[in-house]
Amino acid sequence: MGGAAVALLAATRRSSIPLVTSSLPRAARGLHEAAAAAGEDKARTRRRRSSSSSFLGPDITDTWDPPPRPAASPLPPRAAGVDYESTATIIDGKSIAEDIRLQVAEEVLQMKNAVGHVPGLAVVLVGDRKDSQSYVRFKVKGCEEVGIKSLLAELPRNCTEDEVVDSVSRFNEDPSVHGVLVQLPLPQHMDEQKILNAISLDKDVDGFHPLNVGNLALRSRKPLFVSCAAKACLELLLQSGIDLMGKHVTIIGRSKVVGLPTSLLLQRHHATVSVIHAYTENPEEITRGSDIVISAAGVANLVRGSWLKQGAVVIDVGTNPVEDPASDFGYRLTGDVCFEEAVNVASAITPVPGGVGPVTIAMLLANTLDSAKRVYGLSD
Ligand code: GUN
Repeated sequence: MGGAAVALLAATRRSSIPLVTSSLPRAARGLHEAAAAAGEDKARTRRRRSSSSSFLGPDITDTWDPPPRPAASPLPPRAAGVDYESTATIIDGKSIAEDIRLQVAEEVLQMKNAVGHVPGLAVVLVGDRKDSQSYVRFKVKGCEEVGIKSLLAELPRNCTEDEVVDSVSRFNEDPSVHGVLVQLPLPQHMDEQKILNAISLDKDVDGFHPLNVGNLALRSRKPLFVSCAAKACLELLLQSGIDLMGKHVTIIGRSKVVGLPTSLLLQRHHATVSVIHAYTENPEEITRGSDIVISAAGVANLVRGSWLKQGAVVIDVGTNPVEDPASDFGYRLTGDVCFEEAVNVASAITPVPGGVGPVTIAMLLANTLDSAKRVYGLSD
């Protein structure tokens, strides 16, 4: 049963008890109110149960309210750094990414010599979000480093959905482009699904197309592309010699970019996977029972040292800007995991920055190369 279905079931069971809704997180309150309303009319509930929208669960977003943990200790000072008791290996994403880039660069050169073409990646960036602009800069720079051609369409925030779809369609039809990526998030007035649907299945280097996600979910099938962040998490674990078979992995967050595809990929590696989200009760209990914790919630310092069992492996996908007057930009990037605490509990941990980020970009280059190899008949 899916996480949302479990949450709804739990809420429905409690619906006869008067609810003090103001103490519940905003979105959870919505769930409880929906469940109470559902209990009012049995006939209506029966009708709703048979309709596909109720079967698929309410479509509510994951809003992580500040965790209600008054007893939690204050964050340690950042300057405290890694203390001498720390036994955790710091997983070096930069060096793993460098190895992947070297391999991609070599194959790009071989392709150029064999067929006279190089892979091409097209990126569509809408609006002027600073974080998206810098991610796209990293992607373009990554392409340059390995000899992949990059094309960038920049559209203003107030452009129309049709203009974005037109850009995507032009790239779909361009034979020198083997991968098309629309940088997310899109401005709020845009229908993300409509725009992502416009990307050709065989150029979907993000792996967001329903057929790619579906084939990833069905174990004997082979998706054309798998999400770059999910591949990065796996690569970091495998390169660090972490055994996955039968291990309990908890993933925090269920996005299509990270949480969902990572959970599917890990199951193909025979891990036992828990996916927790903004409506999960007692998330700490679940993470504390886990051999591996992968956090992609987008909440700075959500995962404290007390959330981890001794010797756990921690993969931190979060890149959250936090104010830092000492930094040149007035802010710095920090992960979902309180590094200073976790490093004293974990056996291995990825830093932020320098962990998942560079490997994710390297995987995008690898996906683009794979796509071009398919086109030119060079796949294994
Ligand atoms: N925004 C943040 N991460 C990603 C990603 O992996 N792909 C796209 N398209 N947008 C993103």
